[in-house]
Amino acid sequence: MKQKKVAIFISGRGSNAQALIEQQNNNSYQVVLVVGSNEKGETPNFCIRHSIPYIVISKENFFKEDFLTNQLEKFQTELICLAGFLWKIPSFLIQKYPNKILNIHPSLLPKYGGKGMYGIKIHEAVIANKEKESGITIHWVNEEYDKGEILFQASIPIEENETPERLSTKILALEHNSYAKVLEHVCSS
Ligand code: GRF
Repeated sequence: MKQKKVAIFISGRGSNAQALIEQQNNNSYQVVLVVGSNEKGETPNFCIRHSIPYIVISKENFFKEDFLTNQLEKFQTELICLAGFLWKIPSFLIQKYPNKILNIHPSLLPKYGGKGMYGIKIHEAVIANKEKESGITIHWVNEEYDKGEILFQASIPIEENETPERLSTKILALEHNSYAKVLEHVCSS
């Protein structure tokens, strides 16, 4: 089976990107590029240690068709994984990679999705609404935030007196444990 070449887009700390890179050992995918919207944090150094190019992209360049597609083509990117990436994906990229862009979201979509629903705000809202469970969603990206076809969900119960911070830690662990498996499945089917 031919390995699929994957680019990962991140905006923050990049722990999901690191988990995808650490788990790329079954030959179904190979991370060829990480695109970050800043150069802070541990992920740039992590990429150096794994010999994976890390590109910092400005907002201006991100929305320039030629700049981004040239970078992706240079590394023969076949699939894109969004991992905590906050900018809206431009239409030209969705058209160039139809059903080839995955996103991971820390809630059970369609609940707690859409513009403005990210990070700790999601877990605060889940607890404020006294939900019985929360979880993660991995879905294809289309032109609307968090609304593409859902490929995978996993849930956990909300314990009594749960805090947004504790819930966030549990959800992140679930993400780290799931994204690579779903990506492997996508790459081998
Ligand atoms: C994750 O919870 C992801 O689902 C969300 O943003 C967070 C990013 O964390 N979209 P990290 O940058 O992967 O550590």
